[in-house]
Amino acid sequence: MDFEIVNGAVASLETECLVIGVEEGAVLSPSAQALDQASQGYLSNLINNGDIKGKSAESLLLQKINGVAAKRILLVGLGKADERHDRNYKKVVKTISGAIKSLSLKEITIALDGLASKTPDTYRQVRHLVEWTTAELYQYDRTKSKKADVYAINKIAILLSDKDTEEGESALVDGTAIANGMNVSRDLGNLPGNICTPTYLAEQAKELANEYDSITCEILDEDAMENLGMGSLLSVGHGSAEPSRLIIIKHNGGETDAQPHVIVGKGVTFDTGGISLKPGAKMDEMKFDMCGAASVMGTMHAIAEMDLPINIIGVIAAAENMPGSKATKPGDIVTTMSGQTVEVLNTDAEGRLVLCDALTYVERFKPKTVVDIATLTGAVIGALGNSVCGLLTNDEELCSELSSAGDYADDRAWRLPLLDEYQELLDSNFADIANIGGPAGGAITAACFLSRFTKAYRWAHLDIAGTAWNSAGKEKGSTGRCVPLLSQYLLNQAADEMTDDE
Ligand code: BES
Ligand code: MN
Ligand code: ZN
Repeated sequence: MDFEIVNGAVASLETECLVIGVEEGAVLSPSAQALDQASQGYLSNLINNGDIKGKSAESLLLQKINGVAAKRILLVGLGKADERHDRNYKKVVKTISGAIKSLSLKEITIALDGLASKTPDTYRQVRHLVEWTTAELYQYDRTKSKKADVYAINKIAILLSDKDTEEGESALVDGTAIANGMNVSRDLGNLPGNICTPTYLAEQAKELANEYDSITCEILDEDAMENLGMGSLLSVGHGSAEPSRLIIIKHNGGETDAQPHVIVGKGVTFDTGGISLKPGAKMDEMKFDMCGAASVMGTMHAIAEMDLPINIIGVIAAAENMPGSKATKPGDIVTTMSGQTVEVLNTDAEGRLVLCDALTYVERFKPKTVVDIATLTGAVIGALGNSVCGLLTNDEELCSELSSAGDYADDRAWRLPLLDEYQELLDSNFADIANIGGPAGGAITAACFLSRFTKAYRWAHLDIAGTAWNSAGKEKGSTGRCVPLLSQYLLNQAADEMTDDE
């Protein structure tokens, strides 16, 4: 399916379905006005009769009307002009996507006149339209014997004025790349643990490197990690028949010697809890415990497709957390690559054990910044729910860069404190540090643990346990978050560096 920008008079656009926005209690949008004129008042009549009031996500499908070239018109309510926000815009996109599916449209033309979104920023409007429609049309069928019926749609046209076209075109390129990255991430997340193993993730990284000239990848097996002293990462996979992997994906978009930005993902391909076994209910959802890795993979896809002119390294710490006769036991002490020893009081706090060695490993890249992404704690869900991910860092600038990237991309992160007071909760009588910090402030103590391994560079941690997948019903499945946030952050970094160079 392709997106394209079109220009011209709205009444003469040849299309199966023309989408027009109607604001609640407001005058007709410019496009609606043009159609109204071309059709001798058909639309104003309809609105005066109260057939559509413009309430958010309300819709009305009209068959061909005289004077208008489009075969059908879909009127979509945009809500009140002063209540415009991303959530309403998303409802509009949902309504449009619903029509694409139920009418089996082959193509559609969308003329919202920039009124659906809270900002007049055409680039942002178009990007969201692309990303959200693609997300609405996503279907998972990788492990179904009967493949999903492919939707008929092969072209989505967006009407823009001549002056907005250039901005719109660049939004199409970036939006498509990010949407594709989200799909990659969702597919990986949705795959079951018996298929999506650490080895499988490594294979996917190799395929990505084959696909893009800018990408190279390196896979460390258990022997290589042993040689590096990654006793903590390796301890997580000890109870599993699946070997652990450290996956390093490099996008070489900048000067050879330019410092990279690094993103590190938790790739626990299934988390049983290990010997500290999880309860049975909903344990299947622990196949999603590699969603940090999936967002790294999705983001690497997106930035390679956009060919960002900076160096970016994605690292995935992949292991399966199983109980077994060789599994790590509560009280076991492991030695991390950094040399610090860890008392594993709870084998279910394994994410931090795989991440800490990956975080030490990336020191060698002398990174500009490091962001790790992990489904790290149930506690972050208690603290923040399912709408925003947790953001923990002591780097004020990185904090504001990540939160504003999240706001812009509508993939938000919310800060939690990473204060020294919490550090002592990790004290251990038998090792340098314990891997859990007691029942309170779990998302914070988890980040405190990671902070012990990130002193060599600027670092932030994103806890996506509440946002990476939906739990219930038809919506159950991976969300592709936070590919938009990470892609936006890296897009901004690239833009900053380009202006610095000038
Ligand atoms: N992968 C889980 C975190 C998780 C739990 C994500 C539920 C989403 C839903 C992580 O490995 C874990 O088990 N964390 C423990 C930490 C605890 C033992 C300190 C948790 O959150 O319960
Ligand atoms: Mn766990
Ligand atoms: Zn886990």
